[in-house]
Amino acid sequence: MRTPSETGDEPVVRMRGVHKAFGSKQILRGLDLEVRSGRTLAIMGGSGTGKSVALRHVIGLMEPDAGSIEVFGQDLATVGPAGLARLRERMGYVFQEGALVGWMNIHDNLALPLREREGLSEAEVRPRVEEAMERVHVEGAGAKFPSEISGGMKKRVGVARALITRPELVLYDEPNAGLDPEISRSINDLIREVSDTLGVTALVVEHRVECIERVADEVLFLHEGRAHVHAPTAEFFASQDPRLRAFLGPSSTAPSITSS
Ligand SMILES: Nc1ncnc2c1ncn2[C@@H]1O[C@H](COP(=O)(O)OP(=O)(O)O)[C@@H](O)[C@H]1O
Ligand SMILES: [Mg+2]
Repeated sequence: MRTPSETGDEPVVRMRGVHKAFGSKQILRGLDLEVRSGRTLAIMGGSGTGKSVALRHVIGLMEPDAGSIEVFGQDLATVGPAGLARLRERMGYVFQEGALVGWMNIHDNLALPLREREGLSEAEVRPRVEEAMERVHVEGAGAKFPSEISGGMKKRVGVARALITRPELVLYDEPNAGLDPEISRSINDLIREVSDTLGVTALVVEHRVECIERVADEVLFLHEGRAHVHAPTAEFFASQDPRLRAFLGPSSTAPSITSS
């Protein structure tokens, strides 16, 4: 695993002093966030603290009231619609609500971004879809419809769909929400495997400590709209910050933390 000083490159995502309010509700209050190339940053924080809002800013689906966001070194405030579209082609997302298209089989769900965004021929699409299904270990499911596969398998296909365009940056918003622990573990293993084999940069919103320990190089604790703690994973879970300790609760002072 690389450390920032070893990679030495510019961050893939850099948010500086980002503020965002909805009406009178201040959600982000000066959020600073950076993730460097090839690294996986987990974002933790209470429900409704603005984790999904932060991810939406990275994709340019929301604009900050103040502060700046750079993705791949480009300032989202000045790239323009065409520039933003080009940046988005380099990203993949796995959203909580990221349902598959119900009336399309798995093959077509996976082929969709290739047909729409890359205009590939069917002969070019087929091997890409097969490769993506192999990568998430759902080989042979192409003819099935979303209603015919399990929740865990749907998540895997969601991950495959996010990766099929070969993004450099992947955003996962609670990829394990609603999954039982065993399936969560296999999704985590998948996220880790994808990061290691494809070298992608990732932002993962997650709250289960064991998931974060598995997938993240570093963790950011979002509290009152700011990065209250941001540290390498082992250091993060060893932190004595009182607010972080209160959030994590007594059970997660686990001395078993290993830094891999
Ligand atoms: N488009 C929106 N309009 C108004 N309020 C929003 C919008 N998106 C999010 N919020 C509010 O912002 C807060 C943070 O939301 P969110 O980022 O989804 O929380 P979480 O940390 O659980 O992901 C919540 O109070 C939510 O209701
Ligand atoms: Mg959320």
